[in-house]
Amino acid sequence: MENIFKDLESNVQSYALSFPVIFNRAKNEELFDTEGNAYIDFLAGAGSLNYGHNNDVIKKALVEYIMEDGVTHGLDMHTKAKAEFMDSFNTHILQPRELDYTMQFTGPTGANAVEAALKLARKVKGRTNVVSFTNGFHGVTAGAVAATGNQHHRDGTGVPLANVSRMPFCGYHGQNVDTIKMIDKLIGDPSSGVDAPAAAIVEVVQGEGGLNVAQDEWLRQLEKLCRKHDMLLIVDDIQAGCGRTGTFFSFEKAGIKPDIITLSKSFSGYGLPMAVVLMSPELDIWKPGEHNGTFRGNNHAFVTAKAAIEHYWKDDKFQNEIAEKSAKVTKRLKHIADKYGVTKARLKGRGLMQGIDVVSGEIADEITTKAFEKGLIIETAGNLSQVIKVFCPLTITMEKLNAGLDIVESAFAEVLGDKLRNVS
Ligand SMILES: Cc1ncc(COP(=O)(O)O)c(C=O)c1O
Repeated sequence: MENIFKDLESNVQSYALSFPVIFNRAKNEELFDTEGNAYIDFLAGAGSLNYGHNNDVIKKALVEYIMEDGVTHGLDMHTKAKAEFMDSFNTHILQPRELDYTMQFTGPTGANAVEAALKLARKVKGRTNVVSFTNGFHGVTAGAVAATGNQHHRDGTGVPLANVSRMPFCGYHGQNVDTIKMIDKLIGDPSSGVDAPAAAIVEVVQGEGGLNVAQDEWLRQLEKLCRKHDMLLIVDDIQAGCGRTGTFFSFEKAGIKPDIITLSKSFSGYGLPMAVVLMSPELDIWKPGEHNGTFRGNNHAFVTAKAAIEHYWKDDKFQNEIAEKSAKVTKRLKHIADKYGVTKARLKGRGLMQGIDVVSGEIADEITTKAFEKGLIIETAGNLSQVIKVFCPLTITMEKLNAGLDIVESAFAEVLGDKLRNVS
């Protein structure tokens, strides 16, 4: 069976190289290969499976909808599934947070939502330039990759990547350097060479960029900076949203109100493709079909997204569970970092997107390869792929979370011993 992939599938594959088996079944926090081996999933579809694989509650709603011949594909036409989902999202997510947004369903990938958000910001402000941040990742279509830092992805584009000014993220020059002040000066100086931006696009926790966290105060200052320079604030919550950092939106703790939010990945609740741009209502200056796409609004995803919201987000129970699991991850990663001597080791991230920076991409790769041999799917992030990234489903049981972390610990032990004891 492997030959079919060798013979026919492009070299562009990546996760398949890290996990070279053939997967067949998946349930909750586990994947099973064709040989029947089980793997604990600390990758969770790169953040698309916050509620696990084939979640029973969500699956039931989908199966019932399919059996009733509910509309599967409806372009952007009004359907009952869409109305019910929008109502549920408004009632259980937006209103309790006093958020008022218009919803734009874009093509179903995160990158498409980012494209739409950038287009809209440029259209509203009548300016081409956009601020994005060091180590930010926003997708690989031309507009989104221009806002992305990673050279590997930028190199694949084949055209000049323009109309973006890269600015230092929170802590990029060390925790004592106020990067907002630097940005303020560059944007405010008519002779700095930075064109007036239409918007700033930011991740609250940079997922691909290495689990770098924007501090709450930094985000509040960024929001102020956007107001001062008449820029829109776009929060790309495609990876950090949908509960990943502990609250539905990653920016809730900071108390900011972005002008535009992008969501995808776990938004559908079931790993089905769906993406949305949330915009302050007065920004909705689109003409009909101006940003279109055949797959805008996936009715199956509406059904599963509604089921996920109504099961997990009606009260605080799920958030409390995420907090408890996050605390466990912090404690165990700290123990691993201390024990294996990653002295400056930087525990990275927040909520259930945490990791350990082991300084070297090669060592990180050895650790994740070893972990896979032991039955754990786990990936790396960061500018050198040096951060081991714990990214389990939010619904994982404590037992499986501990079992996965046991594997992380034993992979560290086998690869590192005390190799990194004095790495600075
Ligand atoms: C923050 C962020 N934005 C955008 C994207 C792009 O999403 P997609 O891969 O669905 O195009 C990603 C994907 O990892 C992401 O993490």
